[in-house]
Amino acid sequence: MLRQALLAVSRSERAERVVSSSPLTRGVVKRYVADDIGAVVTELSDRGLLVTVDHLGEDVTDRAQAEGAVQAYLALLDRLPSGADVSVKLTALGLRLNEQLALDNAASICEAVADRGITLTLDAEEHDTVDALLSIHSTLRKEHPDVGVVIQAYLRDAAERCRKLESARVRLCKGAYSAPEALAFTSPKEIDRSFAKCMKILMNGTGYPMIATHDPRLVEIASALAVLAGRDATGFEYQMLYGVRPEEQERLASLGAQVRVYVPYGSDWYPYLMRRLAERPANLAFFARSLLTRT
Ligand code: FDA
Repeated sequence: MLRQALLAVSRSERAERVVSSSPLTRGVVKRYVADDIGAVVTELSDRGLLVTVDHLGEDVTDRAQAEGAVQAYLALLDRLPSGADVSVKLTALGLRLNEQLALDNAASICEAVADRGITLTLDAEEHDTVDALLSIHSTLRKEHPDVGVVIQAYLRDAAERCRKLESARVRLCKGAYSAPEALAFTSPKEIDRSFAKCMKILMNGTGYPMIATHDPRLVEIASALAVLAGRDATGFEYQMLYGVRPEEQERLASLGAQVRVYVPYGSDWYPYLMRRLAERPANLAFFARSLLTRT
């Protein structure tokens, strides 16, 4: 219930105005969103962690905003080391306006990353964008075989999608949006079961699995499945969010695993932050205080 309420608030412009202008939210924002992206990338790299950087923004409503997002990514590339990844939301590139526009914009970023040793991963968003996401990914892969895509294990057809993508770079996550029950599992047990099933398919495939979770049990299952599938530490990676379980990120890296941290930056942090709060109601105390000071 609480999760659904927070996800609904994440789409409210009024709530966004209230939350964004409160100084008390700054502490929470700082925990999850990089204020100086160059410094954060350097710090994580020094700690032996890989990065994927997300220029915050989504659901743009005009072409100029979509073009602005492309330019922001192009400017970002100069600040990233080889081996870095960028995470891109197609709705930030204009998907809600026109699928071809989002494809063209994503292709421009793919071309720019190609000769810098940087990869690109397409984030998964609301369920009504998933078909377009997979279609754009399939088109981009013809020229850029390394382009990655996210599969959300909460979707009932996730395992089937993983089978089709077993040779690709795939990030597997639980899924952070709300989706109708007809399309998505809702109980944590079912979502975990789907996640494990998808991991098994990806680990036994020929592609590159990116296991994006903070869940200790799923992390353990991932390492067992990798061994069973004959993958060494370079054959897959763990991914976690900036600000979430940093000690675990370092612990896994110290054991020789590849660990990539998803680092969001930029001023358009509101929906991202609300999704993090929906996952972790423990942070709600900060949020509630920030609202109370405004009303
Ligand atoms: P969940 O939130 O269920 O937590 C499971 C367990 O993990 C907890 O019980 C606890 O033990 C531990 N844990 C979690 N958070 C913790 C914390 N703050 N401190 C201590 N322990 C904690 N979603 C999406 O829809 N599209 C996308 O493209 C992406 N991309 C993405 C990239 C990366 C790198 C990550 C890590 C995640 C995403 N997500 C995403 C978000 C994802 O779908 C999901 O919402 C969150 O990762 C939370 O799910 P968990 O798997 O971490 O488990």
